[in-house]
Amino acid sequence: MEPNEIYTPPGGPPPSHPQVRLLFQKWGEPNIRRLVSDFYDRIKDSEIRWMFQGDWELAKEKQADFMIQVLGGPSYYIEKWGPARMRMRHFAFPISEKERMIWFQCYDDALQGFDFEHEDKIDFLYFLDGFSAWMVNRKEPPWEKYTQNSQGSNG
Ligand code: HEM
Repeated sequence: MEPNEIYTPPGGPPPSHPQVRLLFQKWGEPNIRRLVSDFYDRIKDSEIRWMFQGDWELAKEKQADFMIQVLGGPSYYIEKWGPARMRMRHFAFPISEKERMIWFQCYDDALQGFDFEHEDKIDFLYFLDGFSAWMVNRKEPPWEKYTQNSQGSNG
């Protein structure tokens, strides 16, 4: 497989988790927006920062709109930004298992700062684990390609 070839995880899309749709009621919109903002601040300090080249505030808004929708709140994402098609929207970003784990860890760490029920946090992380596995679209970490290329070229 070429390093930049789109990879499709064999597990397919994650199943829906009805308990996740109760979290909007339990956590409320301001907390969800704060959580997403904390998550993005952690991304800024992470190894995958380079992937995020858009406007941070807009990225936070879109991500929060999507999460609110998934957690059973208003359909902000679809109303403002159109059909979700999340896997397709991520094709431009080379996401292998390594990037997924960094992304996931940022959410896990951000969540620790919130006084939510433990079981609810587990439900949310379980959802993110399944959904992020479905966002994986590269088999290898993207930089391996560059390492191989630089070794193979004459300058
Ligand atoms: C698996 C690791 C993931 C990585 C590395 C990743 C990376 C990215 C990047 C680089 C962007 C563009 C941000 C910008 O505008 O600068 C983005 C957008 C977005 N991501 Fe992810 N993502 C991942 C997983 C997920 C998951 C699991 C979800 C949802 C559960 C998600 C939801 C979104 C949303 C809603 C957007 C905005 C899309 C748009 O309307 O343009 N991402 N992601």
